[in-house]
Amino acid sequence: MIGPPSIWYVGNGRVAAKRQNEFPKASRFLAFCKKPFLPKQLPISLGIDLSRGILFCILGVYLSAMQPHTFHGFIFLLFLGYCTQVCGQFEQSPTVNKKWWKEAIVYQIYPRSFQDSDGDGVGDLKGIISRLDYLKSLGITAVWLNPIYSSPNDDNGYDVSDYRAIMKDFGTMADFEELLKGLHERGIKLVMDLVVNHSSDEHEWFRQSRSSRNNPYRNYYHWWNAENGKPPYRCSLFDVNHDAWKYDSLTNAYYLHYFSVKQPDLKWENPKLRQEVYAIMKFWTDKGIDGFRLDAFQFAAKDTTYPIFPKGFERDFVNYYAIQGNLHGYLQEMNKEVLSKYDIMSVAEGAGNTFEDGHNLVDEDRRELNMAYAFEGVDIAKPEGYSVLHFKEVFSRWDSAFAEKGWLSIFLANHDQARMVSRFGNDRPEFREASSKMLSTFIMTMRGTPFYYNGDELGMTNAGFERLEEFRDLQTINEFRYAQNTGADLKIVMKRLQFTSRDNGRTPFQWDATANAGFTTGTPWIKVNYNYRTINVAAQQKDPNSCLNYFKQLVKLRQEHPDLLVYGKFTLLDKENPNIVVYTRESQGRKMLILLNFSDTIAKVTIPADLSTATLLLSNYQNKPAHINNVQSHTYTLLPYEARVYTFSTERDPTTNDIWGRGIHRDNATMMRCGMYKGHGLYVRLIKN
Ligand code: NOJ
Repeated sequence: MIGPPSIWYVGNGRVAAKRQNEFPKASRFLAFCKKPFLPKQLPISLGIDLSRGILFCILGVYLSAMQPHTFHGFIFLLFLGYCTQVCGQFEQSPTVNKKWWKEAIVYQIYPRSFQDSDGDGVGDLKGIISRLDYLKSLGITAVWLNPIYSSPNDDNGYDVSDYRAIMKDFGTMADFEELLKGLHERGIKLVMDLVVNHSSDEHEWFRQSRSSRNNPYRNYYHWWNAENGKPPYRCSLFDVNHDAWKYDSLTNAYYLHYFSVKQPDLKWENPKLRQEVYAIMKFWTDKGIDGFRLDAFQFAAKDTTYPIFPKGFERDFVNYYAIQGNLHGYLQEMNKEVLSKYDIMSVAEGAGNTFEDGHNLVDEDRRELNMAYAFEGVDIAKPEGYSVLHFKEVFSRWDSAFAEKGWLSIFLANHDQARMVSRFGNDRPEFREASSKMLSTFIMTMRGTPFYYNGDELGMTNAGFERLEEFRDLQTINEFRYAQNTGADLKIVMKRLQFTSRDNGRTPFQWDATANAGFTTGTPWIKVNYNYRTINVAAQQKDPNSCLNYFKQLVKLRQEHPDLLVYGKFTLLDKENPNIVVYTRESQGRKMLILLNFSDTIAKVTIPADLSTATLLLSNYQNKPAHINNVQSHTYTLLPYEARVYTFSTERDPTTNDIWGRGIHRDNATMMRCGMYKGHGLYVRLIKN
């Protein structure tokens, strides 16, 4: 443990005094000298600092005139010390740039599965409107809606046929406006999905584009004329043959589709196309929406010389497809044309391969986007399990890479993943609640903007699909067909899809124990999870210890402590512990300690903290006291999937940046802090008598 240094200096003069409360005048004087400021208050602070400086000068001149020899040097040095300190403040003041979208708690709604209002078995906008008070009750501050634009639904709305119209299944533009108004009235922002790496093949642009080689829209998509032979192989994520080029006999050419054959890739290299997209974005921002999530945008720019990639490149898909060509140039243009004109959230799906890629997308100085959404964390969980050591290594690595610049989103699930509790936790009845709460605790206590997927607040689980006919997702179905065509072991493939299929996260939201979980009065478009009678909102609202009520407490906690939980520094402790993830969040001498047992067994953790001096803020085991194994060695035991959040009193030891309190200062000295952060150099050592 790092102890305090033995000598502290005030400016350039060493001070020895007694306790702060024994010297109120001295301490008030020092506090005045050293009043810290926040960057947000910079103009005010500069004013204060200037007036303090002038006051010091006048004092110096006055005292020098009175007794030049005695005081001159002292005052000069005092003033010099003050100046040094002010400079130090400039150097060391936290670089936190506060923004609403950093403090937001984003709740992702999959509209197709949230609430059906008209009995057609498909969720819709009126359905969401009827649940606005539920959203408000969660305490979340922003909603991300998966695409609601006109679409033939090859990929559930990620194949847009008209970017300015609402999908018929979902309602009308009037419904949309009512929804936006209802959200805003409740203090909730709206972030829209923007799908512009590709459109639907039923979009008018594509109809035109494929009609003739001379059509003005031809260059809105990527075409390869067949007389030039077969184009260099490109792998498609959703194609039944994994082939991203589709031959179209109408013009004897191939078009490119990284996703399904009905999702042709738009040609971002064409400035006209880019202007079309910016106009669409303005259409929605002028309606008052609060942000965009740019779908698959890391793939938008291509090397249109289509070089031949080495064999097997598709296993390293992102490396070859992400952040290519002039992607950053397009984002800078988008920023100039649209994003910079509004105070909105902008997040691109995928952050490339390297931290440099991720940074370049969101580095404020580059004026591109404001938040990265990286996959390395969410991809850790595999059907065969995952290593907790790997989990914490990945999340802390990403955190430190973005600690100074840029901003991350934090998530463990979305509509492209199976359920969070089934992948990262444990959906067996005895552990489902605890592990789901523990994972929510992780998301809500990390630095970055949480993106929380609908249904996870209830601990909704994987669906238990058994037969191919039960799946609806084209990726799942085409993967199965690809396996069939290539002679793979279908039992193994099915087992894997049962665990990984995106449909697991898309089953209807479980509102109550009535038919179809209260989602629809008709036949749901996808089967309802068999466990809806026990796992549903109505039941959990009544239970003070439910996952739902725990989630609300977490939201409140995050909102009550933005300095710590949104902006505060993250430090991973006990790195080698294979079961427990433990870390601190800290800011300006205050700390929180978060302990999370990621295992289904009782596990031990050793931390340099005396928990008996700490306050337990939240626990998923109903605030029962932590089991202390050994006070001397600070070893504690956590129950399976236990989560505990502590805060520490700062009075005991604020100077050392060390939360651990008791037992640190065994000598006869007590530390007094004079309103500065650690590192600002102004501390007073007080001798106890
Ligand atoms: C990523 C989206 O999240 C996913 O749902 C979609 O299928 C693909 N992009 C293609 O748009």
